Amino acid sequence: MFVRRIAVIGTGYVGLTTGACLASLGHDVVCADVDADKIKRLTAGEVDILEPGLAELVAGGIAAGRLTFVLGAAAAVERQPEVMFLCVPTPMGVGGVADLSIVESVIEETRDLLPSGCVVVNKSTVPVGTAERTEELLVRDDVAVVSNPEFLREGSAVYDFLNPDRIVVGGSKQDAAERVAALYSRLGAPTVLTDAPSAELVKYAANCFLAMKLSYVNAVAELCDRLGADITDVTEGMGYDKRIGQAFLQPGPGWGGSCLPKDTSAMLQLADAADFEFRLIRATIDTNTRQRLRMVEKIRLAVTGKKGGSLSHVKIGLLGLTFKAGTDDLRDSPALAVAALLRQAGATLTGYDPALKPGVTHPDLNSITIAEDPYQAAQDAEALIVLTEWPEFRSLDWPRLAGEVRKPIVVDTRNLLDPAVARRAGFEWIGVGKH
Ligand code: UGA
Repeated sequence: MFVRRIAVIGTGYVGLTTGACLASLGHDVVCADVDADKIKRLTAGEVDILEPGLAELVAGGIAAGRLTFVLGAAAAVERQPEVMFLCVPTPMGVGGVADLSIVESVIEETRDLLPSGCVVVNKSTVPVGTAERTEELLVRDDVAVVSNPEFLREGSAVYDFLNPDRIVVGGSKQDAAERVAALYSRLGAPTVLTDAPSAELVKYAANCFLAMKLSYVNAVAELCDRLGADITDVTEGMGYDKRIGQAFLQPGPGWGGSCLPKDTSAMLQLADAADFEFRLIRATIDTNTRQRLRMVEKIRLAVTGKKGGSLSHVKIGLLGLTFKAGTDDLRDSPALAVAALLRQAGATLTGYDPALKPGVTHPDLNSITIAEDPYQAAQDAEALIVLTEWPEFRSLDWPRLAGEVRKPIVVDTRNLLDPAVARRAGFEWIGVGKH
């Protein structure tokens, strides 16, 4: 394997993971960001993203002299990189269209500085056609642009980077795409070499498929509720079919996070722009919105004993607020979406999350009092709601929680708990698609 000089622009969870992992594979990596404080902290080996194994990889890279941090993309390009990864945010802009202004400003900043022969790699999730547009913006025949989407899950990004299911690289110049694929050769993953639009579409198609799988499971769980079937047994039975697989079949309060909602909306826009009404994706999103409402109705019924009962001034304890377990990320969290609906219905909310400290600030947390521990969140609550699948909730002292609440009701939107344990402690346990 050739050791390459690599620049990574953006030190979010994708950029930092990419930089640290490529350094651990032996490459010489410089990471750039516009946040001077962050660069200072990273240079000192301080990682503020909750990502298992990342801090150790960053420390190892710095110690080996293979990983450095600089302020601004231009400073990174001064190191004459052979490959420059773009790992900057592409937030959802107006009407669900990905906002590419940060990608564009990096290209503008580096356009005249990139060494001849450099390959610019787009790792951010971008609309189909962005690689071509980047090529146009670059106006450099001697610099190639390829798309190399990432498939990292928050909370297991390092593991996913080093154990990829596949590597996808697409571009109009075959040798540039091959050079980028070679960076990963030590990982031994199947590699798809293609054109840029196909590589860009793989990312959307994969994330939308995952979202669709979850919406499907949540809809089947609703049917289980109505028919008296058990979603755990149904999904287990489905999952043994190798074409379906057991993964990503867990019902919940809906899917969220910084990727699936953004990418499903972007896919709709993409299809729309191509004059194609992608109804399956529309239904996937609508089912997800409905799932959140359905959870609130479940809670309402559990607490008031009737459909449409009032939740006004009802105190509810929330267990879990992040969009999934193993992260401190609150972006587009289904837990917060359910909380907002409960709040709208007049409920008073106290929440506990292992990743959040009391006093933490976030605009969406406004109406939720953050508790020190789950027992405090349970005090005088008329129901406890499990919203995020933190495994530690299973082994809480459930008899103690029963002593704290006003009404021993737990609505488990993740089917996380052992119902027998909760029931033994005196709780009425209410799951999703389970009885
Ligand atoms: C997702 C994809 O899984 C990654 O492959 C992709 O690289 C990433 O987006 C991205 O585009 O960067 P992530 O957003 O970290 O990763 O989260 P997931 O683990 O996919 O979870 C998404 C949501 O689905 C969460 O709210 C989670 O709780 C929910 N979920 C997941 C379920 O409700 N049930 C499941 O069985 C699995």
